[in-house]
Amino acid sequence: MYLTKDEERILSGEEGYGRQKAMELLVALGTIYDADHLIPITSAHLSGVSYKTIGDGGISFLAEISRDTRVEVPTTLNPAGMDLRRWKEMGVDEEFAERQLEIISYYERMGVIVSCTCTPYLTVNKPHQGDTISWAESSALSYANSVIGARTNREGGPGALAAAIIGKTPNYGLHITENRKPTIIIKAKIKAGVFSHSLLGYAVGKIVSGGIPYFTGIHPNADELKTMAAAMASSGSVAMFHVEGLTPESNHFDLSHLEKVEVTDEELKEVCESLTSGTDPELIALGCPHLSIEEMRWLAAELAQAKKNKDVDVWFCTSRYMTEKCPRETEILERLGKVVCDTCMVVAPIEKRYRFTGTNSAKACCYLPTLCSQKVTCADAIRLLEMVI
Ligand code: F3S
Repeated sequence: MYLTKDEERILSGEEGYGRQKAMELLVALGTIYDADHLIPITSAHLSGVSYKTIGDGGISFLAEISRDTRVEVPTTLNPAGMDLRRWKEMGVDEEFAERQLEIISYYERMGVIVSCTCTPYLTVNKPHQGDTISWAESSALSYANSVIGARTNREGGPGALAAAIIGKTPNYGLHITENRKPTIIIKAKIKAGVFSHSLLGYAVGKIVSGGIPYFTGIHPNADELKTMAAAMASSGSVAMFHVEGLTPESNHFDLSHLEKVEVTDEELKEVCESLTSGTDPELIALGCPHLSIEEMRWLAAELAQAKKNKDVDVWFCTSRYMTEKCPRETEILERLGKVVCDTCMVVAPIEKRYRFTGTNSAKACCYLPTLCSQKVTCADAIRLLEMVI
């Protein structure tokens, strides 16, 4: 991969340890993927925030790299392992909290915005069509590529951090127009709604694996697109998709030679059953990906008169930004459960407190058994909330 004189200098260590390590990582990635050069980015989004997922090894790495380094572009953070303010109410222990706060302090030292959400595009990191970005968090980067029309590869936490520190990323994969073309047509015949689109995403991720699906027959709203992106990235490794007549690059490519696969509500019913391992949750967790303003408003309207009658905990996972935008809705939802910020049901250590979780997110259903040792009820939000009121 070609490096400019300035980039060579960073690689030699002349600009400090942190920048040298970041450049080494970008050069390694660029070499593996046959990139020709580095291209400037306008923003980064980092995963690798929860102490549960990065552990003590991650802390040592961040302590070292943050000593003499700052990020070059606006950079946001994925959810941490706890609500940074209300962690005691979540049942998180002191030792975990201490380590989690240490992680956050290293990111802050590098100038990263402590947003702690998987929906940065709804908060303070809003790319534009055509922007080159370096994002980790599979649901967010897929949304950015597909719905916004920005360009990012499916970065891991270290790759996105290295790009944030240098302000550049290797030019390969989804940064190149040719690689953004659809690989299969999905003819979807399904009901509207976030839950249906989550199941659709899960079904399609299994079908296409790492391909780029082109959807026909659906007209999803922003929340449906958000949940589809998340689910496809969990059951497959989908980093981009198109929706006919809706997403910005959907009419850029020739589709005539593509295989077509039909997905109907019948298949989604089977997906839902396959993700369900019981019907008696101790925790109901909504907001994977984090709840948007529209979802907060909808839930608050649905639950305005509701009273909690059963001994089941409820988490509404969202960004702190969203609770500040929706104080009235937050108050209503707090009557029924906790509006949990900065974290989610998957990256928080819920296994220390619960064994059985209900959620309307196929992505969460995919990860809860393996990452959190949970049995799972997969159902739509209203059905789940009826188990509480
Ligand atoms: Fe976000 Fe956690 Fe789901 S990071 S996409 S709420 S697993």
